[in-house]
Amino acid sequence: MFHVKHPLSFLDDALADLARAGLLRQRRAPVDLARSFCSNDYLGLASEISPAGAAGAGASRLIAGERDEHLALELEVAAWLKAPAALAFTSGYAANVGAIAALAGAGDRIVSDALNHASIVDGARLSRAEVVVTPHLDVEAVERALALPCRGRQWVVTESYFSMDADAPDLRSLRRACDAANAALYVDEAHALGVLGPGGRGLAAEQEVTPDITVGTFGKAFGAGGAFVAGSDSLVRWLWNRARSFVFSTGLSPQLAAAARLNVARAQGDPSLAARTLQNASRLRDGLAAIGIVPLGFGHIVPWLEADTGRALALSAALAERGQHVLAVRPPTVPTSRLRLAVTAAHGDHDIDALLRAVAECVACLPR
Ligand SMILES: Cc1ncc(COP(=O)(O)O)c(C=O)c1O
Repeated sequence: MFHVKHPLSFLDDALADLARAGLLRQRRAPVDLARSFCSNDYLGLASEISPAGAAGAGASRLIAGERDEHLALELEVAAWLKAPAALAFTSGYAANVGAIAALAGAGDRIVSDALNHASIVDGARLSRAEVVVTPHLDVEAVERALALPCRGRQWVVTESYFSMDADAPDLRSLRRACDAANAALYVDEAHALGVLGPGGRGLAAEQEVTPDITVGTFGKAFGAGGAFVAGSDSLVRWLWNRARSFVFSTGLSPQLAAAARLNVARAQGDPSLAARTLQNASRLRDGLAAIGIVPLGFGHIVPWLEADTGRALALSAALAERGQHVLAVRPPTVPTSRLRLAVTAAHGDHDIDALLRAVAECVACLPR
């Protein structure tokens, strides 16, 4: 019977090659930074444990060894997302740039949604793979791109909840397209995790899709900093060896890792946080509709288009005069100017209502 290989199975061979050549880097026991002659903790400050825990990792994790805070965070995030393993990075930007460039290479093809975040765009450029940018959310365009001849591997990269349009791809169809072409599916859940999907586990979980690679950040819903890549054990071992933003950079601050861990646990343990965020989103979306503004998409990011950039800026300024911090997002960040709101669980009904009153006033005093 013809057997289709898993799109990431090449990693096992590549890891075995590294091991044979004596070049495989593996996780190691934590190094005592105060006694180590390998750290970059030149003034000995990272090894001073403050009441809040060690602030600095002291060196790249390949050198400084495994810290309990990193390992615990990675195990818990992987378990939460039902992924075999996860690896913490210092930021979502570093995660995408490092992971994409470590996985894809010359001869490969990356199929990338037109609105993917800059860190995905930069990772794809660094990889030296052919990059096919497909129109936003267009699954058929992805299928057409995957059907073109390719001598290497194929990767489909998308966000799960687009932060400027508040919309989401059909991940099931993308998964099917990837499976049909033996391509790997890479999903960045930066803006979804913690809020959207069952228990805040994101939109892949909501659509019952298992990406080959999942990225999430701790700097958004989890209110800390840093990020992770989750997937198979081989994926994580490969990134440990080959993701340049991981290998050649000081590890995530153990203090931040501890804060991220605490907040992931809080988000997991208290579903009322995500529920409140989404209730606030509904209140804001309904209120905007009542004053004639149709917001894009769904969920806690609430943008609306103001194609006239001057008017978008004037609205933002008028809202600022009323004490409301609402950013106008303009080209080249987005193709069409917009006002972009995002609600949080910390907002109360009175905050949303005050914002709505201010928006109504500003829209009335700045007629089109
Ligand atoms: C989809 C996406 N991925 C990654 C990032 C980068 O994350 P971080 O801020 O942790 O570097 C962002 C930031 O806005 C993002 O929107």
